[in-house]
Amino acid sequence: MPRLSRRGQARLDNDVNVPLRFFIPGKYYDTKHNPEGVINMATAENSLMTPELLQHIHSHFHLDPVHLKYRVSLLSGFYPNTEQALRMYINETFHPRELITPEQIVTGPGLGAIFAQFIWHTCEEGEGVVITTPYYDSFARESEYHAQVKLVAAHIPRDVDPLSLAAIKYTSAAIEASNASGTRIRVVILCNPHNPLARVYPKETILAYATLAEKFDLHLLVDEVYGNEVFPSTVVPNPIPFESVLSMDVNSLTDCDPSRIHVLAGPAKDFGVSGLKVGVFVSQQNDDMVKLIRASLGPIPISSASDSIMTAVLNDSKFRTWFLEENRRRLTKAFERVASWCDFHKISYEPASAGVFVLLDLGPFLERLSDVGASDDVKVDNGVRIMLDNGVFLRPTIVAHDQIPTRFRMTFTLPPDTMLLGLRRLEKAFGLRQGWSFHPWRSNL
Ligand SMILES: Cc1ncc(COP(=O)(O)O)c(C=O)c1O
Repeated sequence: MPRLSRRGQARLDNDVNVPLRFFIPGKYYDTKHNPEGVINMATAENSLMTPELLQHIHSHFHLDPVHLKYRVSLLSGFYPNTEQALRMYINETFHPRELITPEQIVTGPGLGAIFAQFIWHTCEEGEGVVITTPYYDSFARESEYHAQVKLVAAHIPRDVDPLSLAAIKYTSAAIEASNASGTRIRVVILCNPHNPLARVYPKETILAYATLAEKFDLHLLVDEVYGNEVFPSTVVPNPIPFESVLSMDVNSLTDCDPSRIHVLAGPAKDFGVSGLKVGVFVSQQNDDMVKLIRASLGPIPISSASDSIMTAVLNDSKFRTWFLEENRRRLTKAFERVASWCDFHKISYEPASAGVFVLLDLGPFLERLSDVGASDDVKVDNGVRIMLDNGVFLRPTIVAHDQIPTRFRMTFTLPPDTMLLGLRRLEKAFGLRQGWSFHPWRSNL
């Protein structure tokens, strides 16, 4: 066998051969082709607007010869492209204090890929990035995989809201402890609106994180991918409105050097197009960072086919405006349905007002499945097994050090019929009582 690098060999030995603790075996559920398959209610995908979006795509998709060439041909020519369209989109929907210029934004093949490049350029191997619990668990993979950087969890106690000012002292303590133990923290990550808590940070918390970044000499990376998906409901009638950190006068409200602040965003969640792999990195006061990310994405640009699709959607301002509004309206309905299902079954849940998922605490059901005194890990494993046996899967947030280890993240934006079937399978898995209905299930979708 030809030799591998030390890094490659270590990964082969430690990561690649270790089976994932939680995954869906076999092919997923498909109404026609695999009706017995497992319904994936774990991934943050949004199908609520898919029919209308596909219709728009099918009637607008067009490739010019330039789309078949290297990306530089498209960007250096006179054709509309996603770099321009996304800049305009973020300027119009995130209301930055200063309009984002072409030099301050980079488009790349999804937020995860951009995130990995950002970590590679800001941290040495063995250094750390800090995030409060619970968190979007792929941040760990994206930190470790290329840059070999450790994701350090700032554990927030159960009685403290991780999005509140009260959480800052725990983050600060985690940074100090990590620095003292030799894992120097270089970046603090925020996800606003939060994944998996599904709500918006108060502005004062974001500003306090900016102050923290200055104090510990950190970059502040804010993932705002759910920024256009804040919705009211009967459960949360007046959610905190989303404000991008780009719109805040960080300079005069804190002592944070604005060159520390960077944003990830993009159309993947707003438009339910995560498979097209399009995301952006924005940094308005740090030219070097933008240059580095742009250069690092050179060999892995977005596909020109994705570019053509997204450019047509984003540049159709009438359709785009309608789409975002209608998406939020459908999110409201879809969330109210699962909230009603949870209320019926007395399942405690985190009131969601942003994004496409809700956190449920299945603790009482897991108790019934496990021996007295079983550990949280065993309880969660038992819960996952019974769900898979019944053809459904939710994401356990114990993997993201959730302070309530029996919680699971459930996506509520599956196609309506699949969603209903998924809920029925959950009822069966946990032996829940029959009788919940929400009529008419399909209305207003
Ligand atoms: C907060 C957050 N950031 C990033 C991503 C990944 O984005 P992409 O698919 O563009 O890599 C996700 C996907 O679920 C997410 O929830």
